[in-house]
Amino acid sequence: MQIETSRLRLRRFLPCDITDFAAYRSDREIARYQNWDFPLSLASARRLVGEYSRRDPTRPGWFPYAVELKHEERLIGDVAVHRNPGGLEAEVGFSIARDQQGRGYASEAVLGVLGELFTQGLRTATAECDVRNTRSARLLEHLGFTYVRQHSVFVRGKQERTELSQFTLPAERWETLAQQ
Ligand SMILES: CC(C)(COP(=O)(O)OP(=O)(O)OC[C@H]1O[C@@H](n2cnc3c(N)ncnc32)[C@H](O)[C@@H]1OP(=O)(O)O)[C@@H](O)C(=O)NCCC(=O)NCCS
Repeated sequence: MQIETSRLRLRRFLPCDITDFAAYRSDREIARYQNWDFPLSLASARRLVGEYSRRDPTRPGWFPYAVELKHEERLIGDVAVHRNPGGLEAEVGFSIARDQQGRGYASEAVLGVLGELFTQGLRTATAECDVRNTRSARLLEHLGFTYVRQHSVFVRGKQERTELSQFTLPAERWETLAQQ
């Protein structure tokens, strides 16, 4: 399941990731449009990393890939993949630590994961982000996703109602883009 890109290694979460994972998950900027517990204590990070490390990436449900910066051998973020039963459709989500943003790492990591998923027979990749999360929307459109619609949700962790934008990337479009 390990994926190598030029600068990154996308792999299972490991115990050595706990401190870096807790740090970026506890960054208010990173958490702003995410539906997760905030801040994340070291104890909760340890529990989550333990749980992630036992998940099977081929089964339906969420599998978070740890994004490791190869030359520093340290965690800088994650790309989470939610496979639907049957494996034909999957949603992706992503986070990169603030001090590592703006260097193309999220683009490289998500492209690496999508390449693996489409090679395995995925037909449609999807993604969602808060309508105010313009950086994520831009990233998705740069990668070839197209905007579909927006819908309203109640985010329990934040006790607020917001609008999410939905994006899609069908395999045919992925293949066309890969040939360009
Ligand atoms: C959205 C997010 C993942 C982007 O991470 P990132 O690593 O900064 O993304 P990239 O570097 O690939 O792209 C960001 C910008 O850097 C630019 N860039 C790309 N490659 C670059 C490179 N090699 N050098 C410098 N800049 C580069 C991109 O063009 C992009 O520019 P733009 O914002 O003006 O369009 C990050 O901001 C984040 O973690 N946000 C919080 C979590 C979140 O909301 N996730 C979404 C939930 S779905």
